[in-house]
Amino acid sequence: MAKWIIIAIIGVIFFGCKKNKIIHNNEKELDPIAWHQENYRPQYHFSPKEKWMNDPNGLVYHKGVYHLFYQYYPEEIVWGPMHWGHATSSDLMHWKHKPIALYPDSHGLIFSGSAVVDTQNSSGFGTIDNPPLVAIYTYHLMEGEQTGRTDFQTQGIAYSLDNGEHWTKYIDNPVIKNEGVKDFRDPKVFWHEKTNSWILTLVAGDHAQIYRSKNLVDWEYLSDFGKEQGAHGGVWECPDLFQLKVEGTDETKWVLLISINPGAPNGGSGTQYFVGDFDGTSFVSDQKEPKWLDWGTDNYAGVTYNNLPDTDRVFIGWMSNWDYARDTPTKSWRSAMTLPRNLTLSKNNNEYALLNYPVLEIEKLLETKKKNVVRLAPKLKMTLPSDDISQGELRFKTSSTNFTIVLKNSLGEKLSLLCDVTEGKFTLDRSASGETDFNEAFGNKVHYMPINNFGDKAFEVRIFIDWSSIEVFLNKGQYVMTDLIFPKEPYNTIEITNKSEQEMVLKDFEIAKVKSIWKP
Ligand code: FRU
Repeated sequence: MAKWIIIAIIGVIFFGCKKNKIIHNNEKELDPIAWHQENYRPQYHFSPKEKWMNDPNGLVYHKGVYHLFYQYYPEEIVWGPMHWGHATSSDLMHWKHKPIALYPDSHGLIFSGSAVVDTQNSSGFGTIDNPPLVAIYTYHLMEGEQTGRTDFQTQGIAYSLDNGEHWTKYIDNPVIKNEGVKDFRDPKVFWHEKTNSWILTLVAGDHAQIYRSKNLVDWEYLSDFGKEQGAHGGVWECPDLFQLKVEGTDETKWVLLISINPGAPNGGSGTQYFVGDFDGTSFVSDQKEPKWLDWGTDNYAGVTYNNLPDTDRVFIGWMSNWDYARDTPTKSWRSAMTLPRNLTLSKNNNEYALLNYPVLEIEKLLETKKKNVVRLAPKLKMTLPSDDISQGELRFKTSSTNFTIVLKNSLGEKLSLLCDVTEGKFTLDRSASGETDFNEAFGNKVHYMPINNFGDKAFEVRIFIDWSSIEVFLNKGQYVMTDLIFPKEPYNTIEITNKSEQEMVLKDFEIAKVKSIWKP
């Protein structure tokens, strides 16, 4: 009886909402106007118009513009000779596709790297009045790799005097040569106020290296980090070193992000972090065990923006995994980025934790918000019809200790989440979520994330779904899981089941449709 009352209430709340069905036709041909309506195309995450994309590169904010460069192969939808693709945004949500920024040259393909605003014109590439944007990236010389050499990755630079529209490669590239380290790449540079110099972090196989420069051209090696620390199940990639204030204190710590492939907790690629100190020469951390930024399988090679105020540490990751990135069932393009997320540092019982949570700008895209209190008796399930959920947000606060959330469609495909606070675990099962058979590693196991016992404190559950991805944020980004999904039909039903012996109270309950960023 109670079950039907709940369904009736929910029906009144949600059925009244406008059914705003997006064209999402499996067989739709690619036509130039409707590129953003292709099957599985994310509507509020960045993806390239066509062809292959991987890591975000050169994240830099300059003159009111967020630049997003990315690993790009413009010929195919699989990885190939790398270029830097380019997109810009004024709000981190709406992106404008730009022409390719960097093409391979005689030093090699253009692998991952970063970009800075050289405000003081230390490089001499611009002027004080028109400071250059400088990109620092890895050259990967295919011929070198093929002939068995180990020095085929070097670091090069390029500059732009027109806010990233055109780029000139530095004439004496490479600026950091390789003394025989096979995986020697992904330079991330930032301006270090205290030593009045540029600091560069790159990876060298199983550890990170730190370099210093006064002019972005001449680099001096300073130190190593991490041979004996953190996870080493695979090669280290895409480092990022930055400072953060510990929330609610005056303490400042340094954080080092390191992507690793393979060796992530749920298989394949993932991003670990270290919290420690940096004195201008060395990064030290007493952390022995890895900590994971995101427990999902699809947040990799993420880095943060340069040139934002210290309080804004905005992160973007590549929403895929090298285990199956080349096989995902999209037709004309491959891969999207995560939602831009704000990174913050917290400290509890002497343990530091890095939180990541969508930037505030996302709020502007949320439509048909409904905020209510919903009560669910012990062992009861509520079923919410919602055509908005495949491009939507679900959010509530609860202190319930055991519940499941299942998203379903009329084909019987389902994506199942379990939150068992007492047992300290959250799981995501995508084995029946839609297309999974394109690669054995995709649907073959339930993804697991250890979580706190929150006691009887309410914590927030916030979920974003965008056709082919789900991002789960528990307790404002303390626990995060990002996963790809490929339902053959949009999910149109949400089932929430209270598996505990107590009433489940869902406060500030909301389901929102998220507006497409590609439509005028
Ligand atoms: C990470 C990565 C980087 C490299 C780039 C090549 O996904 O392997 O280490 O620079 O991709 O595309």
